[in-house]
Amino acid sequence: MATCFQKAIEHAFKLFTRKIALPVPIPTEDLLELGSLFNQITKEELNLSPDILHERVPGPKDPPVTYMKIIDNNVMTVSVFILRKGSRLPLHDHPGMYGFLKVIHGSVTIDTYSPLDQSHFNMPVASLQNLHQRFGRKIPAFPTRFENTRTFSAKDDCAILTPEGRNIHEIYAESGTAAFLDILAPPYCTERFSQDGFRPCTYYKEVEASFTSAERATVSNLHRQRLVQISKIVTNNQQTLHLGHTVM
Ligand SMILES: [Fe+2]
Repeated sequence: MATCFQKAIEHAFKLFTRKIALPVPIPTEDLLELGSLFNQITKEELNLSPDILHERVPGPKDPPVTYMKIIDNNVMTVSVFILRKGSRLPLHDHPGMYGFLKVIHGSVTIDTYSPLDQSHFNMPVASLQNLHQRFGRKIPAFPTRFENTRTFSAKDDCAILTPEGRNIHEIYAESGTAAFLDILAPPYCTERFSQDGFRPCTYYKEVEASFTSAERATVSNLHRQRLVQISKIVTNNQQTLHLGHTVM
């Protein structure tokens, strides 16, 4: 009999294959239906070794994050991330991608942002100068809407991101070892997949910036107080874990 994981993956493969053939947004109800399948997946089903989830203070040679690839093709990537207490995947984006993050052990906290249409915003000159001074070079900054900070455990539904919404996030394990299943479609761009567009993973940090009243007027009342600018950061190769995920 097919397991919850098998059912969810088969469903995801069909949905995302259709999406590649039909370049229109995936309807919310389809995403929620797929999410309901991912919600049923447990760590027991994935047969993770208890040893790898064991709670311990990482030694100097222990990686703060362990990554296990389960599926990697031109439709989607499915992997498991294990974060030791205190480790994090820094603020990063998923350009043009859909994502499902299902915690299967422990808990992770996620800071989530949504990208905003840059054509409506101008980075104030003073803020750009300030960034230039702080980082010693010109750094572009991008308007985003901070959505929320939320902690997910294995009892919670998966977190879902889309190309337009909740697409940028930072993930950290505060209370102990945590593991989550990560489903991304289409995958981050690699040379193999580059024919359908370049999708690099970019890292960011939140920077201070003010918005004009005209800029604030472009977003709803609800979100006006949550406007933030994020700026690209440079990572070195040693930090890169896999397909753009970086450990800090
Ligand atoms: Fe991510």
